[in-house]
Amino acid sequence: MSAVVVVGSANLDFTIQVDRPPQQGETIFGRDLLVSFGGKGANQAVAARRAGANVTFIGKVGQDRHGEEIRKNLETIGIDGAGLISDATCGTGVAFILVDPSGGNQIVVVSGCNYRLTPEELESRDQLLAGRILLLQLETPHDTVRWALQRAKEKGMRTILNPAPAAPLPREHFSLVDLLTPNETEASALTGVPVKDLDGAEKMGERLLEMGCGDVIITLGARGALWVGKDGARHFPAFSVRTIDSTAAGDAFNGALAAALAEGKALEKAIPFATAAGALATTRRGAQESLPDRTAIDALLSSGQ
Ligand code: RIB
Repeated sequence: MSAVVVVGSANLDFTIQVDRPPQQGETIFGRDLLVSFGGKGANQAVAARRAGANVTFIGKVGQDRHGEEIRKNLETIGIDGAGLISDATCGTGVAFILVDPSGGNQIVVVSGCNYRLTPEELESRDQLLAGRILLLQLETPHDTVRWALQRAKEKGMRTILNPAPAAPLPREHFSLVDLLTPNETEASALTGVPVKDLDGAEKMGERLLEMGCGDVIITLGARGALWVGKDGARHFPAFSVRTIDSTAAGDAFNGALAAALAEGKALEKAIPFATAAGALATTRRGAQESLPDRTAIDALLSSGQ
């Protein structure tokens, strides 16, 4: 039985460096094309594995070259890929990513097979939905996410939903989520509370608790993370690193968080561990190649930077 089960997307990413994003109707030059493995689901599975967890990934790719490469990559990293479904009727997901000199990014995803993952397919792989933690995002159909949350709760698993990319969600989802991990933009999309400062983030967290989540962790980029639970709010500062590409920083955070909770760490300890993983992911280009291993996370944590 895996400690962490991730249900989500797997993409091939095409990342380019730009001086600034293009404006409407404008053509600009980019450079340094990087073709790499991505997708929020697969990224979080890899992040959890590198952070030390035993991981199963459930997702869907096409019966094409990219899908085969994704399967081999997951196996090489040591992730149980028995849950990776191949579908001949759709293409493997791809993402186009522009990264600017500050490390900020803009991402366009062509979901392909990711958005064809059905509750029936999860049901037929029910034996794989077994572990301590279920981790999900929103790059697969929301009905499928809801089915998986419901099933995991019935099985006594702890559920984490990273509501990315930002989207409004039906109320029923929230009571099935033990731990919701939005960034500020996503928290604002879910609550209607505008993005402002730490106090504003706390308000969003409180609103999300009222909507039914167990605990909320709002990731704040260079300002760290805010945990809002039934006993109040607690801020965790960011680590100081040299950011070159923020792609998959949220995925590093979520995967490491799931790994830490699966090994029995309390949230007080799991959040700094995840924050360190997120910070390290910004120091390297790309998605999965930027995800840190356990040694690097522990080293940054103990440096206290
Ligand atoms: O979170 C980063 C990921 O978002 C990229 O790897 C891309 O594939 C998109 O899913």
